[in-house]
Formats: sequence, structure tokens, C-alpha cells
Amino acid sequence: MARRLARGARLVLASHNPGKLREIEALVAPHGVSVISAGALGLPEPEEPAPDFAGNARIKALAAAVASGLPALADDSGFCVAALNGAPGVVSARWAGPGKDFRVAMERVQREMGAATDRAAWFVSALCLAWPDGHAEVFEGRVDGTCVWPPRGGQGFGYDPMFVPDGETQTYGELSPAFKQATSHRARAFAQLLAECLD
Ligand code: IMP
Repeated sequence: MARRLARGARLVLASHNPGKLREIEALVAPHGVSVISAGALGLPEPEEPAPDFAGNARIKALAAAVASGLPALADDSGFCVAALNGAPGVVSARWAGPGKDFRVAMERVQREMGAATDRAAWFVSALCLAWPDGHAEVFEGRVDGTCVWPPRGGQGFGYDPMFVPDGETQTYGELSPAFKQATSHRARAFAQLLAECLD
């Protein structure tokens, strides 16, 4: 049985990525939890040495919970391309370089895919809810789709403009934020967290 977060609790959002923060805040907001970001508390951004999303989410959430003395929620996520054997995957953020320029990251994906006919791709999100005593719960969500080129649309963040989710013709850069909020990898991970850990 998972540990639950009491209604009215304060929760640290252990992310420094503005796009992710926006989406996680919107997911949590309707559930009676007040949130504060790790950045607003001056918490450092930990290294992400784990080989998988769940491991990195756990590291980020536990670091923020222990440092703040509050429960903390972290997302570790990434863009996985079938023709690249799942890359960029856990190092999706790093492909954008020190300037965090996702145009550069998307160009690298396109370049490395070359003439590959398999355009399948997916996003993964691992959400970890952790407490200062070291307890942690992790949930994972995935959304499948296709890589397109050139990138399209100004909504969302990261690799959104080159990803068309299955069943759609527009990219996550073109679809409404409400649509992404209801269907994304992060929304799917959050739905499990909601069922198990929130009142
Ligand atoms: P990290 O979890 O901080 O290591 O970073 C995950 C990276 O994966 C982000 O910087 C984005 O590049 C990418 N990513 C994760 N979720 C999404 C999404 O919903 N849309 C687009 N890119 C995403």
C-alpha cells in the first residue's frame, strides 16, 4: 500500500525546468496541495547519474525532500527514438547542450536518424514522490508517437515540436496545452500517483 500525501500538505516541486514546472503545477493544483519550487527554495540541481528514469526521479525527489524537510515531487523524463535504440532517453536534456537549446537537440535527432524508415518515438516520465524520512513512491507513464521534420509549433517545450502522438496529425508543439496535459507521459504517470498517493 502506497504512502499518501495529506490534503493541504506543502509539496516541493523538485525541478528547475520551467516547461516541466508549468505542467506539474497544473497537474497538482486541483488536488488541494500547495506547491513551492526547488528553485524558489534555493535548492541545488542534483546530478542525474542513474541509468534509468525512475532512478533519477528518486535521486531528485529525495535530495529535495531531505534538504527542505518537506515532501517533494520530481519528474525525470525523456524522448526516446526507436531508430536510435531509445536515445536520447535519460540524457535528453544534455543533447541540448549548455545553452539548453532544443533546436540543437532536435537537429541532432534528425541527423542521427538519417534515412531511417522507422520514425517511431516515445516520451517517458517517471514521477517520484519522496518524504524527508527517505520513503519514496515512483510511477511511470509513456506516450507513443512519430518523429516529424521540420519541427512544428510553439507550444510546449523540449522535443514537443518534432513529436506527433499516435492518433493525431499535429505535434505537441501545435496541439493545445490542455490536450497535452490530458494525454502525455507525465499525465499518465500522474494519474497513477493521484490514485495511489493523493486524497
Ligand atoms: P530531465 O528529466 O531534467 O533529465 O530532462 C528531461 C528532458 O527530456 C527535458 O529537458 C526535455 O528535453 C525532454 N522532455 C521531457 N518531457 C518532455 C515533454 O513533455 N516534451 C518535450 N520534451 C520533454
